Amino acid sequence: MKVFAGNSNRLLAEAICNYLNLPLGKATVRRFADQEIFVEIQENVRGEDVFVVQSTSFPTNDHLMELLIMIDAMRRSSARRITAVIPYFGYARQDRKPGPRTPISAKLVANLITEAGADRVLTLDLHAGQIQGFFDIPTDNLYAVPILSRDVKENYDLKNVMVVSPDVGGVVRARALAKRLDCQLAIVDKRRERAGESEVMNVIGDVTGKDCLLIDDIVDSGGTLCNAAEALLNKGATSVTAYITHGVLSGGAVARVTSSKLKELVITDSIQPTTAVQSAHNIRVISTSTLIGEAINRTSQEESVSSLFD
Ligand code: R5P
Repeated sequence: MKVFAGNSNRLLAEAICNYLNLPLGKATVRRFADQEIFVEIQENVRGEDVFVVQSTSFPTNDHLMELLIMIDAMRRSSARRITAVIPYFGYARQDRKPGPRTPISAKLVANLITEAGADRVLTLDLHAGQIQGFFDIPTDNLYAVPILSRDVKENYDLKNVMVVSPDVGGVVRARALAKRLDCQLAIVDKRRERAGESEVMNVIGDVTGKDCLLIDDIVDSGGTLCNAAEALLNKGATSVTAYITHGVLSGGAVARVTSSKLKELVITDSIQPTTAVQSAHNIRVISTSTLIGEAINRTSQEESVSSLFD
């Protein structure tokens, strides 16, 4: 088995290699003068079980293209099997046609990765589970909920905790966390009037005097999160903390979170944290390296990956 990384999340790739007790594979991923991507694999991969770690996070198109070119390089270097390890799968939010004449970008990206030559995909908390079906190659979608629930148990008194989904679409994910923590569940009924804006309408469930734990897959602008936190506090919640797998945190999101009433935002390292994230007083990052490392190990050993979540 050999593990390589593009430029999106080398820190996570190194932590995964540390868990696997392997050196990170040697590869150059750099730019020509005109910004085209140049890749060179600097060690033999002929006959190897190769894992390429790359989140398709900002700058999404560059990171996606790096991944495709790395897969192509591995294929042409006679790797036996190539697994694209994509801790954050970008373009996932365009997973259906919400209106006429719109694309399904998640399917297009799945096609690109497959056509480049990936044999398998290993990813984490896909925005919608059905995206697995967009790939006609084996795709393992890992869940961050065991890591998140462990962190909640270590840091919060569960007696007063209420798990909250920030929108109706996230109820299944929130229910999974509530079940693991044996806590009650509430829902914020969010109506989004325009793309990129969110509006909180209603809180379903009595959150008075509760320590609320919001759970979601993505925090991008921070609008959904901060509006939901505001609504919960207005309804009498004692505190609001958020557990979110993918810290996209674009534009002024970090400033929005730091100036909000959120007690804490806990994200994972599926996207490499920026220095702004690292220095934010109420944002904490927990690592997925053990989870992804163990999934890689099991894939390589042809062992069950789903039993990681039993
Ligand atoms: C939406 O369906 C997702 O699960 C997130 O709630 C959304 O992407 C968060 O975006 P933002 O932080 O920009 O409100």
